[in-house]
Amino acid sequence: MRKLLAVLLVLVVASAAFAGGKKEAKSDVVRVGFAQCKADESDWRIANTKSMQSTFNVPGYQFTMADSNNDAAKQVADVQGFIDQEYDYIVIAAVNMDGWDTVLRNAKNAKIPVILVDRNINAPQDLWTCYVGPDFKVEGEKATAWMEKHFGSRAVNVVNIQGQLGSGAQVGRSAALDDAIAKHANWTLLARQTGDWGTDKAKEIMTSWIQQYGDRINCVYAENDNMADGAIQALQEAGKKVGGADGVAIISFDANRPYLQMTLAGLINCNVECNPLHGPTVKRIIDNLEKGVQPAKVEIVPEEAFYWDTITQAIIDARQY
Ligand code: AHR
Repeated sequence: MRKLLAVLLVLVVASAAFAGGKKEAKSDVVRVGFAQCKADESDWRIANTKSMQSTFNVPGYQFTMADSNNDAAKQVADVQGFIDQEYDYIVIAAVNMDGWDTVLRNAKNAKIPVILVDRNINAPQDLWTCYVGPDFKVEGEKATAWMEKHFGSRAVNVVNIQGQLGSGAQVGRSAALDDAIAKHANWTLLARQTGDWGTDKAKEIMTSWIQQYGDRINCVYAENDNMADGAIQALQEAGKKVGGADGVAIISFDANRPYLQMTLAGLINCNVECNPLHGPTVKRIIDNLEKGVQPAKVEIVPEEAFYWDTITQAIIDARQY
């Protein structure tokens, strides 16, 4: 009987050691699940996707990207999928600011850190680990500050091509314009509509506004480069003077290189940067968390703004994207 008990004891200890050993194997590779909104929705998003993929495509990491195709409900399901598959970290570029509480509470209960990248959300702070990205309202305020300088006391009749409705980028940039219009009695919002970050849809919208408002439009507030491009194409096809000192003033966001060339050419008057290169920052945060170092709750990435009358080719050539 004593021999039998001894054998049993050895077996129990051995299996515990084996189980311990097996767990060790699992955590050697850090598994990161990235819930992207729509990997190719704009030039900016393509650069952002590349930055995340190239950064995490290294030994020691298993990086999985789920593309929600800008479907907010699908994105929440993507995140739940990462929880169910016991990923070590979840990174989210949120399609919409709302609808996150339940799934983030599930991630918290599963002790999986959640890193918000690029897009901010409306959820209690204890449900997410940290946010890395811009302050979209501040981006918008850089644009309206330029409008104040450019137009001075002249009346402003602006049309607003918005990003995807409900996304942090759209909410912040549109809010800055609303505040500025409320501040200036001679600023008028003639029309606004979402172009869903795309050139073709923005061109369609702008073409119909030109038919409706004609020469009354003296400013276009386009919430990203691709949509600014669409608006410019529509204006040019309608024979309107675009940009420069006395054409229809064009505001854009992102500052991707091809559109900085359009800024240098005077077609875009003010281009507010939105930095897509979040990969290295997110990896630094995860590497630190692996060492037990907590990140700052909010890390706002540094961004600039570029103007048609001050940008140079040298500035553009020095850009990373
Ligand atoms: O969240 C950033 C926005 O998303 C960019 O301004 C836009 O181009 C992108 O699709």
